[in-house]
Amino acid sequence: MDDDPVSNDSPNPHFEQLLTALAPHAQIRRRLLQLGLGSVVLPFLGLPALAAADRSEIGFRAIAASTEDLVRVPEAYILQVLYAWGDPISNGPAFRSDAGNSAAEQAEQAGMHHDGMHFFPFVSHGQPSSTHGLLCVNHEYTDENLLHPDGGANWSEAKTLKSQNAHGVSVIEIELTSRCKDVRWQLVRPSTYARRITARTPMRIDGPAAGTAAMRTRDDAGGQRVAGTLANCAMGVTPWGTYLTCEEHFNAYFNGLDQPTPTQKRYGIRARSAGYRWHEHDRRFDVASEPNEANRFGWVVEIDPWNPGSEPVKHTALGRFKHEGAMLTLAGDGRVVVYMGDDEAFEYLYKYVSRDRFDAGKPGGGAALLALGTLYVARFAADGRGQWIALQHGQNGLDAAHGFADQADVLIHTRQAADRVGATKMDRPEWVAVHPRTGEVYCSLTNNRQRSAVDPANPRADNSFGHIIRWREGDGQGAAAAATSFAWDIFVLCGDPQHPDPDKRGNIRGDAFASPDGLWFDPDGRLWIATDISGSAVNRGDHERFGNNQLLVADVASGEIRRFLTGPRGCEITGLTASPDGCNLFINVQHPGEVVGGRFAPAKPLTGAVWPASQFPELTGGRPRSATMVIRRQDGGIVGC
Ligand code: FEO
Ligand code: CA
Ligand code: CA
Repeated sequence: MDDDPVSNDSPNPHFEQLLTALAPHAQIRRRLLQLGLGSVVLPFLGLPALAAADRSEIGFRAIAASTEDLVRVPEAYILQVLYAWGDPISNGPAFRSDAGNSAAEQAEQAGMHHDGMHFFPFVSHGQPSSTHGLLCVNHEYTDENLLHPDGGANWSEAKTLKSQNAHGVSVIEIELTSRCKDVRWQLVRPSTYARRITARTPMRIDGPAAGTAAMRTRDDAGGQRVAGTLANCAMGVTPWGTYLTCEEHFNAYFNGLDQPTPTQKRYGIRARSAGYRWHEHDRRFDVASEPNEANRFGWVVEIDPWNPGSEPVKHTALGRFKHEGAMLTLAGDGRVVVYMGDDEAFEYLYKYVSRDRFDAGKPGGGAALLALGTLYVARFAADGRGQWIALQHGQNGLDAAHGFADQADVLIHTRQAADRVGATKMDRPEWVAVHPRTGEVYCSLTNNRQRSAVDPANPRADNSFGHIIRWREGDGQGAAAAATSFAWDIFVLCGDPQHPDPDKRGNIRGDAFASPDGLWFDPDGRLWIATDISGSAVNRGDHERFGNNQLLVADVASGEIRRFLTGPRGCEITGLTASPDGCNLFINVQHPGEVVGGRFAPAKPLTGAVWPASQFPELTGGRPRSATMVIRRQDGGIVGC
């Protein structure tokens, strides 16, 4: 979904001093000219190339950009809609196309606006299945005009409840079935695993902030339990078989104060800024009534999909900010490393390292690894090196003298702690992906039109098209994931090669795209890139030639990028995951038909402000619905190969 206005007015450096020193560097200037980037400043000569063995074959013919209200994929691929907003998770109520399902029915159906997801295979004879699994799907936000028959009119407690029940996560059981020659994925109904987690589901809080005064409310005097999760954007998965869902634009749900505190301001919680009207019927979301409730959102939440009765856990050790995703990898010594972006213009990139080591022989102890560890924030230097700076109480000026009483204080105020240690302000960090063989890490920086002062890691002013940055930890070995230093470069600057402004042409080797968001490595090392050009820009002005949002595939060794899929009108593409054999790719089509301002007229859901909105997925009329799709090859082979 679209980003909020800037909240970061900290004086953290934009490396202008370093750039002054860099400007005379002849090698860099020559490289800029070679790339046709005019005044754009690039950092250095880049990471060493990956070995030929790390090349990943891309075996499909690229498709053209599209403005059609259809999903398009290359020849010889098959598409299937699997799970759309309102579909029952088990033997529950059917979707009503007039949006007439009740709040209680919504709690047994797919939520709205699918985002991150993961396929968890069943294990049979010691092997992970590629035909039977659990799919965890985030439901990021709601569009009230689509959610209710009369939209946001006559706002009520029942509408608030339905909206809350359309948020959160679905856990569904799915299997590949074959009848005659019809091979299809379908939901298992009924399923004992099927579950909806909503903005009201009870969950536990752990880590250093649990139980502290700032986490206590009238409903929870102990500060250790909270109702629900919301703004569930991207995700992560743990080696002990659990799912991480990330709370992103949580500020939009709270009606703030006329005179917000510095912390509320830093997190964008202001009076009448609530994009929702939950606070009118649920006082938790009215800051004047419940000042600490907002401290209980903005976290990473762990869900065990294999145990439907289990209580989700909010892990405060991983910090509080607008969490895009939580990409988990293991360091060579078994410590858990989690990469996380804070998706807002000029916010930061974080890494968490557990204190203890994962023991595959004791997978049940995994959750404790997310309760005790060190949170770091990234500082990118102009010489191609970078540092992870610990956000640890008592270190780096994070002490009582600077307003941080203890580690809970540091974590609840993660953004201010990162300001304090001089982290690098980034161009909206979204997903992070780790190469399965090399350990090289990639992060999408989706765009930042508000940037004027550039730095080597965010090298374009008015960065309307975004870029992808990458780094190697420590000495460049994947095993060094827990290291506190790294070497970095920019993998690609997105852009339109035909743009009249040289700074906006980018340097893509292959198909043009903009606003990279979802990033995911398949097991063979192909990097999948999903785009999210906002509804206010897509197919207009200097975004016209990119077409609808899309999915591309990169060979990171050669740098080649090919367009694999184009989405229907007004959507973003997100939620990338696959069966273990790579033969079934699951994607999410989010907010099809989104219009400028992001809201529909309830009486005319197919009519947007600018063009006819989308009819996806039915294409026969009716409300547009976010949906999970499966993509397979006609010959059953590996997708993308
Ligand atoms: Fe929810 Fe930053 O995308
Ligand atoms: Ca995103
Ligand atoms: Ca986005």
